[in-house]
Amino acid sequence: MSSDRLIIFDTTLRDGEQSPGASMTRDEKVRIARALERMRVDVIEAGFPIASGGDFEAVQAVARAVKDSTVCGLARALDRDIDRAGEALKDAKSARIHTFIATSPIHMKMKLRMEPDQVLEQAVKAVTRARKYTDNVEFSPEDAGRSELDFLCRVLEAVIDAGATTVNIPDTVGYNLPHQFGQLIADLIERVPNADKAVFSVHCHNDLGLAVGNSLSAVLNGARQVECTINGLGERAGNASLEEVVMAVRTRQDVFPCDTRLDTTNIMTCSRLVSGVTGFVVQPNKAIVGANAFAHESGIHQDGVLKSRETYEIMRAQDVGWTANRIVLGKHSGRNAFRTHLEQLGIAFDSEEGLNEAFSRFKDLADKKHEIYDEDLQALVSELSLDAENEQFKLIALKVCSETGETPDASITLSVNGEEKHAHSSGGGPVDAAFKAIEMIVNSGTELQLYSVSNITSGTDAQGEVTVRLERGGHIVNGLGADTDIVIASARAYVNALNKIIRPEGREHPQRGDV
Ligand code: KIV
Ligand code: ZN
Repeated sequence: MSSDRLIIFDTTLRDGEQSPGASMTRDEKVRIARALERMRVDVIEAGFPIASGGDFEAVQAVARAVKDSTVCGLARALDRDIDRAGEALKDAKSARIHTFIATSPIHMKMKLRMEPDQVLEQAVKAVTRARKYTDNVEFSPEDAGRSELDFLCRVLEAVIDAGATTVNIPDTVGYNLPHQFGQLIADLIERVPNADKAVFSVHCHNDLGLAVGNSLSAVLNGARQVECTINGLGERAGNASLEEVVMAVRTRQDVFPCDTRLDTTNIMTCSRLVSGVTGFVVQPNKAIVGANAFAHESGIHQDGVLKSRETYEIMRAQDVGWTANRIVLGKHSGRNAFRTHLEQLGIAFDSEEGLNEAFSRFKDLADKKHEIYDEDLQALVSELSLDAENEQFKLIALKVCSETGETPDASITLSVNGEEKHAHSSGGGPVDAAFKAIEMIVNSGTELQLYSVSNITSGTDAQGEVTVRLERGGHIVNGLGADTDIVIASARAYVNALNKIIRPEGREHPQRGDV
């Protein structure tokens, strides 16, 4: 089924979330899904509903919130997984079930302990069951990149006969090289007798840094769906990066026989949102979305770009959403202007309380910072929960004292389930003192895994955005905080992380062996 349309399947909320430390709450997933929908991503894989109650609710919430993209749920080739995915996606305007089972000799023998014929039978059974919930069913032979070609052809023919409308070829361990992977796709399309009845898709991991190269080679050989993630987030070294795949295809229309329908001007918004929510900072020299991607340092380059942009630039920064910081709102902006502007950024609140809290934060910020940019607004809302009224801990007040030659100390007031509690602590620095004071009240038993601060815009009155990653019993969360005062931002991020970690969250990993 060759066409000139390349389908973009974003799996930031599923494979991206499998990246250690990148777990996202339901509200964060909804926020990212809305941004992806706004960018006109075709399919959003929202999670793995059988993994936990939280994953189920997140997929359900995304399915209810998103109207213009297909929402997909992952399921192993097991009845209980497929039924759970079907249930989570029930309210989606357009739903897809993605079911998978491993087909490589090593996975079948060592992980599944199944014979190839049993695997084939289970794959067909899974697709048949998924078709009871939706006529949009995707099948993946996991570790296809190391599977035997003849067996892969048999499995694909059988699942397409059973009703799979997309067959996705994963290079699960990132082992393939571009020429090899492209050839694999060409061979499959040629040899599977009913190949014209399904869209061929690819899903490449980046263990050798080849995920984007392999995906593009597959597209040149007939694949018409690419699975990818914002900023290349994902298991281990990550997945193919959405922005790189999309911009390569768009920039090299002289080579690619297809294009996506994405509005690429939303790329930077999505990139910042995902980086903020997960705490995975984008490296400055990352293609497309890195801070230096369009910066010309050397004199020769600057001279060339000033004379004619095309001398050194193959894409326009504004086409991927890089804009010069734009003043959008100020101290005198009203609630309606605030709401309208957030809507233009793709940010919506489910309740009036959420909007009220965001507006009051905005007013506080506008008192301290005269010029408010889009980036400030994005940071401001990214730490706000859509479910603020149900949060156990709230930062009420913080006072820190830091003086040369003296030990810094912090006094904190937290609301714990509505009751105000106070604590005082000293520390190695004001942030350390503030965290210790919070822990004197909460005694969370967590371990701090990451603390990072970055500036949102330039200037000394810029907001600092802080990420705090906490771990307890293997459960990892990221907390976010933004403020013009980085100690306050840090305390907010810590409290934000605590509110997330107290929600119990045992979850299964989809690709574990005990099917
Ligand atoms: O990498 C992989 O094989 C996967 C499958 C579940 C598609 O993520
Ligand atoms: Zn994967």
